[in-house]
Amino acid sequence: MHDWEASADVVVIGGGVAGLTAARAATRHGASVLTVSKGGPTDTATQYAQGGIAVVAPTGDSVESHVYDTMEAGAGLCDEAAVESIVEGGRRAIEALTDLGAVFDLGRDGQVSRTREGGHSTRRIIHAGGDATGAEVQRALNAAGMPVLFGAAAAHVATGPNGVCGLVVLSTKGIGLIHTPAVLLATGGSGQLFACSTNPPGATADGIALGLRAGAEVADLEFVQFHPTVLFTPGGVGRRPLISEAVRGEGAKLVDPNGDSITKGVHPRGDLAPRDVVSKAIHARMHMLGIDHVYLDARSISGFAQRFPTITASCLAAGIDPQTDLIPVAPAAHYQCGGVVTDVQGQTRVPGLLAAGEVARTGLHGANRLASNSLLEGLVVGERAGLVAAGRKGTPTTGGDYAIPLAPVLNRQALQDALTLNASVVRDALGLEVAAKAIAQAELLQTNTEEALEDAALTLTAQALLAAATARTESRGCHTRSDYPETSDDQRFSRRYAIEDGQLEPTQAVGVRA
Ligand code: SIN
Repeated sequence: MHDWEASADVVVIGGGVAGLTAARAATRHGASVLTVSKGGPTDTATQYAQGGIAVVAPTGDSVESHVYDTMEAGAGLCDEAAVESIVEGGRRAIEALTDLGAVFDLGRDGQVSRTREGGHSTRRIIHAGGDATGAEVQRALNAAGMPVLFGAAAAHVATGPNGVCGLVVLSTKGIGLIHTPAVLLATGGSGQLFACSTNPPGATADGIALGLRAGAEVADLEFVQFHPTVLFTPGGVGRRPLISEAVRGEGAKLVDPNGDSITKGVHPRGDLAPRDVVSKAIHARMHMLGIDHVYLDARSISGFAQRFPTITASCLAAGIDPQTDLIPVAPAAHYQCGGVVTDVQGQTRVPGLLAAGEVARTGLHGANRLASNSLLEGLVVGERAGLVAAGRKGTPTTGGDYAIPLAPVLNRQALQDALTLNASVVRDALGLEVAAKAIAQAELLQTNTEEALEDAALTLTAQALLAAATARTESRGCHTRSDYPETSDDQRFSRRYAIEDGQLEPTQAVGVRA
């Protein structure tokens, strides 16, 4: 039934910031670790992260201030204790990354340079290579040399009487069974639910589906963050180049074709308002003027090409010179704020199943993630989750069902069309119903190819997202309902779902501390 078998104390799925940080931590704590990744060493969302890492600055900043900004952005749904815990872990995580060889940009004073992004009250975001922070983090982690089985897609987490007991993978050597008491999901997000996204092609919600099918809960999946400024080119679909919020942090302005500000009068922080506010303002202006993009005016930023080399290259490839031209931009899917429910150690409710990074819902992001808090979370929770996973060493791995189950699968194009049209920046009941009906057309299939596995994961995640978005009859954070424009105090809770008797069902609705 399986073409090959192996054993490890810990199996990590995903080779981005959270996965490799966890793998290193588990190894340091004496576990044998195998990391599996369906792509290659740089096919991760981490690789594309531009702006940087939000970490409390040594002067003029405080943990309290970073916590406050995170909770403001999170629109009432952050878990304060989780936010404090993760923000407090930031400095140590950056020291560890620097010890590993990551190099961050320095200012003229020789100190680490810090920029500002939407929702931050101060300049606290450290960056590398100008706008290539993720690439530097990925380089440093890859250079640490953790063993990674590339080209291996996780298909099924097996559980037995002691919790997790194995992972089935599709690899170039056929179907493999890895006996293990600990599986750590670090699979990233779900940008491929939508036609345009900043995410790499592999962002297909794999961890959400693996987690749900293994018995974990998911929460806050209705909160999909649309980045306000993604390079617009006519007909462009798939992974679209990001124009980092740091560009606005350095002074660029959002304008419509008439040259009028998009955010004037919308929020006290103007173009540096939290991301959901800016995306909604752009969406409203596009709707009002009947246009498909607006502009970012970055012409006042001197030395743009040196400060933002990656963005400059993307713009030049599209025939735009940011030094002399307005940059056409539109919102696109960027980040999944919810995910598999974990504590701040990465533990799910299933013994031996952990999650860290974008796939996880720790309570840090609430209804809208604060800019540059994602690499921070991957580093801090990845480290802790690796340690916890290593503690499972020696747990017997018996009694699991190792067959890859049948799953509902909808064709990718139909799924993306349904969500893009009906569940993007602004939603309503009718559109959500149309999308849910489209998803209900999914056929039960054997998921024994990588494509089928991905489409099955997207289908299940779309189902959960639409259920939560339909049930949330209010507007909050990055979930905006045109038919329920107000925020309702009665709905200040996370919506959780799990698979019960083979069906996706709401579990308890969990309130957050006031
Ligand atoms: C950006 O650079 O604007 C994106 C950073 C992030 O998503 O945190």
